[in-house]
Amino acid sequence: MHPIQADFPATRHRRIRRTPALRALTRENELSVNDLIWPVFIREGTGVEEPIHSLPGVNRLSLDRLLVHAEEAAKLGIPAICLFPYTDAALRTETCEEAWNPENLTNRAIRALKREIPDLAVMTDIALDPYNANGHDGFVVNGEIINDETVAALVKMALAQAEAGADILGPSDMMDGRIGAIRTGLEAAGHRNVSIMSYAAKYASGFYGPFRDAVGASGRLVGDKKTYQMDPANGDEAIRLVARDLAEGADMVMVKPGMPYLDICHRVKQAFGAPTFAYQVSGEYAMIRAAALNGWIDGEKVMLESLMAFRRAGCDGVLTYFAPEAARLLRG
Ligand code: PBG
Repeated sequence: MHPIQADFPATRHRRIRRTPALRALTRENELSVNDLIWPVFIREGTGVEEPIHSLPGVNRLSLDRLLVHAEEAAKLGIPAICLFPYTDAALRTETCEEAWNPENLTNRAIRALKREIPDLAVMTDIALDPYNANGHDGFVVNGEIINDETVAALVKMALAQAEAGADILGPSDMMDGRIGAIRTGLEAAGHRNVSIMSYAAKYASGFYGPFRDAVGASGRLVGDKKTYQMDPANGDEAIRLVARDLAEGADMVMVKPGMPYLDICHRVKQAFGAPTFAYQVSGEYAMIRAAALNGWIDGEKVMLESLMAFRRAGCDGVLTYFAPEAARLLRG
């Protein structure tokens, strides 16, 4: 774009910033509740809302409490919720079979949500880490995170979630070939209308720290995830991964983390024009929340500003732990 503008004083940029009405008329992007996906941590029990130390304001919810909060979210107009399970220690094994148990916590939550609040879209996470004794997203054999065997397990996990009624599957594991395998599996099982939001450009990031506390993976993780998640130094690789996942049958793609990777969000949207989402991850939430709790920033203002930045970068929506709070503010 080559904007044409007269010299000062014919051009005075402040003219269109003078009043709220003029600013509203000339605003380039909008943020609305329609753009929000709310990630929620779930656990066993009843009547439980268990605080997460490194994520102030975020709780692990038992399924009865999940339904109450999901209902509120739906009433606020939030279109989708995304489930992350805190798995009991006894169910975390090296073979991870709990991941595709039709009666596991996530699958029971999906059924309950679709029964009680059918209009709220339910998104899931596909990766083995909540069920893996060593905290990795794939099977570990002799210290290696093995790709193809993991993909076969992820397909089983995806099918169990689709069977339970999930609307959007979110493979977050970063194995090669998983989108194609999951899509083929879904078609073969008759789940033609289940959509996939691929965590296509997911970086090996320090910003996931509080999440790993939330799902109980922090103490368990052996080593790091650098052989499957991306190097934060890379940008072109993200474009190749998004192209690959779209070609394999992803309906939507995600960039993760969010705010430090807005350049990637922008490039992905520009390159493909596909539905593009960012995950404002746990560490991003924690930084904003912590500074706000200390009185160092205006929490509400920074929250909405950070979410608008995703829209400006080209994202269609954002996964954010702020979703209910942001929705309340956006609805006035
Ligand atoms: C697990 C997964 C992670 C997140 C979403 N799914 C953590 C990881 O890859 O270690 C992070 C989300 C967040 O930090 O909020 N596959």
